[in-house]
Amino acid sequence: MQEIIKRLEAKRAAARLGGGQRRIEAQHAKGKLAARERLELLFDESSFEEWDMFVEHDCHDFGMGASRVPGDGVVTGYGTVNGRVVFAFSQDFTVFGGSLSAAHARKICKIMDQAMKIGAPVVGLNDSGGARIQEGVASLAGYADVFQRNVLASGVVPQISVVMGPCAGGAVYSPAMTDFIFMVKDSSYMFVTGPDVVKTVTHEVVTHEQLGGAVTHTSRSGVADLAFENDVEAILQLRRFIDFLPRSNREQPPVRPSGDPADRPEYSLDTLVPPNPNKPYDIRELILKVIDEGDFFELQPDYAQNIITGFARMEGATVGVVANQPLVLAGCLDIDSSRKAARFVRFCDCFNIPIITFVDVPGFLPGTKQEFGGIIKHGAKLLFAFAEATVPKLTLITRKAYGGAYDVMSSKHLRGDVNYAWPSAEIAVMGPKGAVEIIFREDRNDGAKIEQRTEEYREKFANPFVAGSLGFIDDVIMPHDTRRQLCRDLRMLRDKRLENPWKKHDNIPL
Ligand code: HXC
Repeated sequence: MQEIIKRLEAKRAAARLGGGQRRIEAQHAKGKLAARERLELLFDESSFEEWDMFVEHDCHDFGMGASRVPGDGVVTGYGTVNGRVVFAFSQDFTVFGGSLSAAHARKICKIMDQAMKIGAPVVGLNDSGGARIQEGVASLAGYADVFQRNVLASGVVPQISVVMGPCAGGAVYSPAMTDFIFMVKDSSYMFVTGPDVVKTVTHEVVTHEQLGGAVTHTSRSGVADLAFENDVEAILQLRRFIDFLPRSNREQPPVRPSGDPADRPEYSLDTLVPPNPNKPYDIRELILKVIDEGDFFELQPDYAQNIITGFARMEGATVGVVANQPLVLAGCLDIDSSRKAARFVRFCDCFNIPIITFVDVPGFLPGTKQEFGGIIKHGAKLLFAFAEATVPKLTLITRKAYGGAYDVMSSKHLRGDVNYAWPSAEIAVMGPKGAVEIIFREDRNDGAKIEQRTEEYREKFANPFVAGSLGFIDDVIMPHDTRRQLCRDLRMLRDKRLENPWKKHDNIPL
């Protein structure tokens, strides 16, 4: 027995070393942690249970028979994050460059299957040279097995990818199908074809970082949600992030004790909206002042900044926040912001997270770029997402809610549960000036007349009272009272039940 225990310990020690100390040091020299170090940081102390530590590949081609490393380039298992079970895989770049073999894929699939059975999130820490070249199609099959599980798990358990090294070719499609992608600056990249192929085919010269680095994907392509300075920051923020999420679609979001009184008034909000309707202000200030303790986990802060999305808590329970940002493009909806917010709304709806929508939207962004880019279809995504969502939906119009964008932004007509306006709200088909120039076209060269008519129009329509008289706004509330009202409504809506008609699935305009 003693002998066997010794052998076991020796085997474990060898497996823990992965590709060896020299390669671990090379990883450190690049500013990266090793696969197990990342998991240690992710999970509560001593909570990680590793599975399949002794799994080896079954390839004999190209001399691989003589080259086996226990674990085969990926560390898998489960642990707890602030006491709640989470499954994870962490690709080990020190073993065959973290490349994915059939055995490596089977390990990932095993934890995904188990996470689905018990209802727990799956975290993937990606650091891989892609398909194990020596295994050929067996590796491609392994990828497809993971892809299939990504799809089946979508909307059942949260899936989060952290890209912490290379992620190229078809391998990008597993993270792409997960709910959120975090990246690390300067050490991670994602692209379908790398700089060399790009140069050959299109003659463009780009670096890895320019083509698919963390900054590119969080500010230009919108593929990733957040970019972090290093592995440690990425993983510590991931822990904070997981705390906002329910473990599966069978659960309500977690409730964390909060010392922030639900009836806390915030008088500074009474002067947030400037008297001049064309002057911008920062909607983030409203978000931070209304939510518990100003603790906001913003997603995609550097992409489509005309809309803000992120998680917060009200009376300790998670909510999703969507808000037009008047500081950028006057808060207009465009292609990127519609896609960004639609995906966020759909995530919230999958996982029973109530949605608070703050509205200050002058309309859709005009222009050929938007029309040729398909704003019709992309704008429809956001409309569709709000309309199909059955979670509690609270909406507050702070200022402008014009035209189609008024309908889109979680209006009463899309089954908004409680829809408020501040006294400064302007709810109309379009802005007063545009409206007058159309209705009174014959006066358009008479500046004084147009001004007078604009004032009349503003007086009559650019306020919350017409919508209020029709019941489209449940109440006009004082800004300082916003938190108290929203907290009360969320409590009232806690047991909301609403189901959409049976269907195989919908056909959201993609
Ligand atoms: C097998 C691999 C490998 C791979 C790297 N290695 N990628 N082994 N299959 N895909 C091995 C290397 O041979 C090397 O082994 C070790 O990992 C470290 O690699 P280095 O090249 O020394 O590291 P670095 O200089 O940091 O470069 C990393 C890299 C490069 C950029 C990822 O290794 C690379 O270009 N690899 C090939 C990438 C690739 O073409 N993959 C297949 C893409 S197709 P030794 O023993 O020498 O240390 C694909 C399709 C997926 O992925 C489709 C899904 C549907």
